[in-house]
Amino acid sequence: MPAPTTRTLNDLVTEGWSRLARLYNFPIMQRLAYQPPQDDIIARLKLSGAQRIADVGCGTGIMAARIQRELRPEVVYGCDASPGMLQQAKSRSTHVHWINRHAENLGLPDNSVDAVVSTHAFHFFDHAPALAEFHRILTPGGLLAIVLNNPTGKFAKALQPQAVRGLAYFPTPAEMRTLITAAGFTITAQHPVHRPLPPALIPDILTVARRN
Ligand SMILES: C[S@@+](CC[C@H](N)C(=O)[O-])C[C@H]1O[C@@H](n2cnc3c(N)ncnc32)[C@H](O)[C@@H]1O
Repeated sequence: MPAPTTRTLNDLVTEGWSRLARLYNFPIMQRLAYQPPQDDIIARLKLSGAQRIADVGCGTGIMAARIQRELRPEVVYGCDASPGMLQQAKSRSTHVHWINRHAENLGLPDNSVDAVVSTHAFHFFDHAPALAEFHRILTPGGLLAIVLNNPTGKFAKALQPQAVRGLAYFPTPAEMRTLITAAGFTITAQHPVHRPLPPALIPDILTVARRN
């Protein structure tokens, strides 16, 4: 399981998430921060009729377990590089296939899934290799749906100095479209996540594409 090449501090990130795993499931945090993007993605999956779905950077497995429970597709993979997060995920569902791998090297066969989804994790991935891996495992026409924050203004600049790019980088919506298109996808939609909080607090964007 090789580590990502440009996200040089990714092991630090995934070890950190292992330690935070128990705090992660607080209901209020889940409801305010993480549930709205999951709702948007589950609605897209429902429309697409995808039957083999991979949730990459699945964390404690809340969305992967919801996908399995609410949509009942043929197979759901929950993939994450952090053993601590996956330990929580495993206790959530025995129907999801939990995979402890990096996004850049998921180990699934070529053309084996109809949808790859990811919420609030892509900024940690090594973008081009991860997208190449999603393209490899997806069937032609398969769905890609990624939610990540789009920090704007001074806050964004504070978050993204060169010094922390080994930990995370949040592509802008335009950068997302460029990266995803270059990896062999066609963008079909891009919009802010529907959430009750003002977008300035959690400015996350859903980007949807189809594999060419
Ligand atoms: C903020 S959590 C998001 C979890 C979940 N998707 C959610 O929305 O609740 C980010 C997750 O990304 C995972 N992660 C970071 N880098 C990764 C990589 N290169 N490959 C796979 N997972 C990674 C971390 O271990 C962590 O569980």
